[in-house]
This record gives sequence, C-alpha cells and structure tokens, in this order.
Amino acid sequence: MKSALQQEYQQRRQQFMRKLSKQAQSADVVVVIPSAPMAIMHRDVEYRYRQNSDFFYLTGFDEPNAVAVLAPGQKHEFVLFVQAKDPLMETWSGRRIGVEQAQVLYGADRAFTIDKLDKVLPRYLQRANQLYYIADIDEKQDQRIFSHWKQQIHAYPKTGQGILGLTDASRVLHEMRMYKSPLEIAQLRKAMAISIAAHQQAHHHCAPGKHEYEIQALMEQLFLSAGAESFAYPSIVASGDNACILHYINNNHKMVQGNLLLIDAGCSVGYYNADITRTFPVGKRFTPEQKALYEIVLAAQLAAIDAVKPGQRFHKVHSAAAKVITEGLLELGLLRGKLEKLIKKQAWKSFFPHGTSHWLGLDVHDVGCYRDAKNPDKKSRKLRSGNVLTIEPGIYIAPDFIPAKGQPEVADCWRGIGIRIEDNVLVTNKGHEVLTALLPKSIGAMERG
Ligand code: GLY
Ligand code: MN
Ligand code: MN
Repeated sequence: MKSALQQEYQQRRQQFMRKLSKQAQSADVVVVIPSAPMAIMHRDVEYRYRQNSDFFYLTGFDEPNAVAVLAPGQKHEFVLFVQAKDPLMETWSGRRIGVEQAQVLYGADRAFTIDKLDKVLPRYLQRANQLYYIADIDEKQDQRIFSHWKQQIHAYPKTGQGILGLTDASRVLHEMRMYKSPLEIAQLRKAMAISIAAHQQAHHHCAPGKHEYEIQALMEQLFLSAGAESFAYPSIVASGDNACILHYINNNHKMVQGNLLLIDAGCSVGYYNADITRTFPVGKRFTPEQKALYEIVLAAQLAAIDAVKPGQRFHKVHSAAAKVITEGLLELGLLRGKLEKLIKKQAWKSFFPHGTSHWLGLDVHDVGCYRDAKNPDKKSRKLRSGNVLTIEPGIYIAPDFIPAKGQPEVADCWRGIGIRIEDNVLVTNKGHEVLTALLPKSIGAMERG
C-alpha cells in the first residue's frame, strides 16, 4: 500500500508530465532531473546532505548521485538512477536506498545504479523528441545531459529519431510548487510550531549581559530536540545596531540594556521552512523612540497582511506596508514632504530597503515567478489560494545612517535601531491565514516583567 505521501509524489509527477506534454503539443517528452550534489565544507569533509527541492518535490528521494527520468507514455514512466548499495561506503557515510528499494519505497517503475546512466538514458531519450531538463542543480550533470542531447542530434541521420529540443522544465514545476497541497501546509505548520516555541523561549530567556549566541543556541537546541532537521537559514540574532545589518549572522555580541534584539530564525521540517522575525527589548521596556518605530512597523505589517487575499496583486502587499511606513516616518519628522510625493519617489527605501514578501515553502526564498507572465505590463502576479508568503516589513536606522537628498538629519536617539516583524501567511479561498499567528507581537507582549 502506498503512503499518502507516496501517492502525492506520484500525483505530482503525473501532473507535471501532463503539463509538459501539453506545453510540448505533439512532441513526446522526456524529463531529466538530477539530485543535488554533496556540498563540501573543506577538503574531504562534507556538509550534511540537502536534497534539491525540485528533485525532492517530485520524488521524496533524499540521496545524492541520483537522477530522475520521467518518460510519459513509455514502458517505464518513472525511472530512478541511484547510488549502488555498497557496505564499505555505507559504513562511512550512511545507508543507501539502493536499486531494489528505490522501486519498492519510491515507486520507480524501474531503477538502475547511477553508473548505468550513460548507457541506459539514450533508450528513453530516443523515444522522445523534446527533452525537459532543470539546469544548475549540478554542473557536472548539466555537462553530461548536454552531451547526451548532442549525441541524439548527431545520431539522428542514422536513427531517424531522438531528441530535438532541449527545454527548461523549471518554469512549469515552479508554478506547481507555488500552490501548496494540504500535506505541504501540514509540513509548514510543523516547522512553524517548533519555530514559534523557540521564539517564545528566546523572548523568555533574553536578558542584558547575555550573548546573542546564547539565544541562538537555545533556539537551535529547541529546533533539533523538537524534531526539526535543521535551521531553515542561518539564524539572525542581532542586538542593538547589529539589527540594521539585514543578514547579520555572527551573533557574537553581548546584549546591552536599552537595546533591542531582532531575531530572524526558523527551522526546517521535512525540508519545509518557517521564516519568522520578532524584535523586542533586551531589557524590559522599549525606549520612546524604539516604541514609536515599533508601532509603525507593526501597523505596516498588519496593513500588508490585511492586503493578502486571492486576486490581489503581489506588489500591492508591499505598497500597503510601504505606505504605512512612509506615513509613520513623516509623522515622526524622519521624512519630510508631501505623502503622495514621498510614496511616489519611494522615500521609505532609505529606512526599509527590502521587499515585504517572498514565497515560502521547500526553499526559504521559494520558487515561483513574481510577475504576471500572461500580462507582462502588470507589475506583479495575482495571489491565489495555496500560495504561501512572508510578510516582513522593517525600519533600520544604522548609526551611520545617511538621509536621502532633501530629507532631514536624523537625531542620535533614533540611530542604532533596527526592527523587523515577519510572519508566514497562507492565501486562502476567502482571504488569508497567518500561519504563525500564535507568536505574539503586540507592544504589550514584547515588553517583559
Ligand atoms: N530570513 C531571511 C528572510 O527573511 O528573507
Ligand atoms: Mn526572515
Ligand atoms: Mn523572509
């Protein structure tokens, strides 16, 4: 009996093949997707293996040195090339699934050891005339597949068959990955629940005199002990003006009374990721300036979340946040001018230099086009039920902040403050669901004692 997950992988492969066949019109297609290579830490020491998300999405297979072939209409529609079982190698680097179990556990119609690829692949290529491939997963495999494509071209005069076109398969696949299934949403919820618990612990244990890495260690300990396989991205635990460095990951400063702590951290469960940010005082209370800026970021975040609904264009979510931030900065005298003009010339960008959202899923910055491919003149695509995105506005005033031309000088009391609030949001049929809503973010909840 196939597990629900296995059935879903099969459905994904079938849907993918249907879509590609439709796109290729009368052509017979064959799809080749390589696994991610092992990443080297230094010399012969490797990082823990992380499968490529496209490969994983279609197969659930979590080993390197593998290639998946989809050949709709052929005798074997799903073929896996995998590492051979090898007791000696398995003693060093862990168990391998092997050819037999690749068929039993992963539903391959046929599996071969990877060393047979060059011999066997042409059999599947010959019977098709359009090769779909995902490039840039593994450079070595790119060369190998390209050379197979050339062989097919050269063989044509004698065989009268074989591959003609080589096409990118990622567009169609990434479009599929943008619509999360209930099983995927359940995985995301698991990653988010653990990440929320870790953020709560961090908030509880934060205190002046502790180091940022102590908070990082506490959170990552919780990730692993709760069953996550990893952090989703290097944890950002940034106190004081470190919070103005968007991807600060050194996490080695002592936290000081009167500063804020910005934590952008989440874990990965079954390769599905959470991406959450909270900012709160290192001590008990916000200073008036911190509080004023926090209120703006929170209002901007709520406005952006409010804008999330099916049919809404992606860029409108960012516009909603940017407008609130501009209004707030204007009110505080940190920006000067007419609101409409400031918005038009994107005056917020000196304080809020990044976007409000990105897709979230198997990749933290998940795949999927942000533009409307059918209406290129529109600024962005429409949100649809099943899309998952982050909402993460911020305000950052570094110690050496330079106001834009024509804007006022910024007093010292505003400098060294970095604030971001980030939640993960699912687009639903009716509007949206904040998947990370259980993690508090009000001013009252952020202050302690
Ligand atoms: N943690 C990376 C990001 O928020 O995009
Ligand atoms: Mn983040
Ligand atoms: Mn993010």
